[in-house]
Amino acid sequence: MPRSWTSSPDVHLGIDVAPGRGKRRALEQALRDAIHAARLGPGTLLPSSRGLAADLGLSRGTVVEAYAQLQSEGYLVTRPGGSTAVAEAGPVPAESAHSTQRRATEAPAPPGPSYRFDLRPGLLDLSRAFPRRQWMASVRSVLNQAPDAGFDYGDPRGRPELRRALSRYLARARGVVADPEQIVICLGFAHGLSLLTQALGRTGRTTWAMEDPCLPAHPEIARRAGVDVVPLPVDGSGARPSALAKLGADVAVVTPAHQYPTGVTLQPERRAELLAWARATDGVVVEDDYDGEFRYDRQPVGALQGLGPDHVVYAGTTSKTIAPGLRIGWLVLPARLLDPVVDLNRTALGGALPPALEQLALTDFIERGSLDRHLRSLRAEFRRRRDRLVAALSKAAPDLHTTGVAAGLHVLIDLADSGLTERVVADAAAAEGVGVAVLGTHWHGRTRTRRRPSQALVVGYARPTPPQFDNAVRALVRALRSAPG
Ligand SMILES: Cc1ncc(COP(=O)(O)O)c(C=O)c1O
Repeated sequence: MPRSWTSSPDVHLGIDVAPGRGKRRALEQALRDAIHAARLGPGTLLPSSRGLAADLGLSRGTVVEAYAQLQSEGYLVTRPGGSTAVAEAGPVPAESAHSTQRRATEAPAPPGPSYRFDLRPGLLDLSRAFPRRQWMASVRSVLNQAPDAGFDYGDPRGRPELRRALSRYLARARGVVADPEQIVICLGFAHGLSLLTQALGRTGRTTWAMEDPCLPAHPEIARRAGVDVVPLPVDGSGARPSALAKLGADVAVVTPAHQYPTGVTLQPERRAELLAWARATDGVVVEDDYDGEFRYDRQPVGALQGLGPDHVVYAGTTSKTIAPGLRIGWLVLPARLLDPVVDLNRTALGGALPPALEQLALTDFIERGSLDRHLRSLRAEFRRRRDRLVAALSKAAPDLHTTGVAAGLHVLIDLADSGLTERVVADAAAAEGVGVAVLGTHWHGRTRTRRRPSQALVVGYARPTPPQFDNAVRALVRALRSAPG
């Protein structure tokens, strides 16, 4: 019986494929078993299909098909350059989805749970979303062409070249009024929010209204900066500015383009109301435009900041468009808030900025048109995924409703008419190896008012690789069907 030990330099597959029919299935099973037994650990590079076929006496097509099947199941991934490797997170077999025991030979897992199909919101398939080739071209161009001064201590607001490039890009793509002098580069939205809560807190703006529901990390960041966080209610038209006066808010943090997590867009009358509140009270609106570039049914709605640049801080990030690991974001500040923010970052935080090389690479990436091309391609992919997910859900479970506009990287699945609770469905999903978020963890004020929040899942569609995606949707549908109602 042919046995493969050494089809690539340091990989010992140690698998057997019995002669006879069903060789592809046998190979698939042998690979699954090797992965489960941790003989093939996360990230292990597999032999080329040609090499393995030769070792095992199989046709190359058989190996190609087996690799493709295991990719779609989440066991394997394709690496840039076309090689095949064991998926990093590693598949979670259904029966062990809740198991906390780790095999002794397993590499330490990244923080947080790992799922065979990760449909948690806000995550990207970085094998596709991070444009390595174009980024490398930009890094190379910067290293070849940037003056030495580009790598010196610099302006505490960030590289001027990047602020100029962002000024043009944000005006064109998001309708932001962005004087480069009033842009401050930061390490993503979380860092920008931390800067703002501390800097504005020092100017006496200590009551912060944050959308309820919202991303749980954000009220936490604000509270730790010592400000008082109050819940800003959200309904089908977005945040409700009429609540701000009663809440005694000095600052309102909102996601106007695509409310996180409900997915609604802030309606025009609400935008006007929010700006009227800010003008009348000298309040500040913080606009978190985390996924504003992704709208699928129409042109993206322009940023609120364009209507009131003296009262709105516009905040953007590369976390949803390129890669969260870049840690590059930006604040566009009203003139009067510039000094407190820059001063805080320079003194209290020691001048925290993304590295100059990364800032200059992003400048080049924007200016040579790579960002626009990249966004066009991601938009097309995410729109397809959203359509497929929504269609599969409406076919399989017509009593569930997906809410929110066709935008961003997630949908909210409202369970209200189904009699299901979000916990039960999330557990059923985990048993299928599917990770989802529940709406319940996004409230920061409802529990205080003791109103029973609605039951919903927050489902991201941008993380699975293209071959995994349909299987991920099918597994989610199975979970919804099997969840005890
Ligand atoms: C609502 C919202 N805002 C902003 C961000 C981006 O945060 P950061 O730039 O810190 O990665 C996220 C990321 O998940 C988000 O969900």
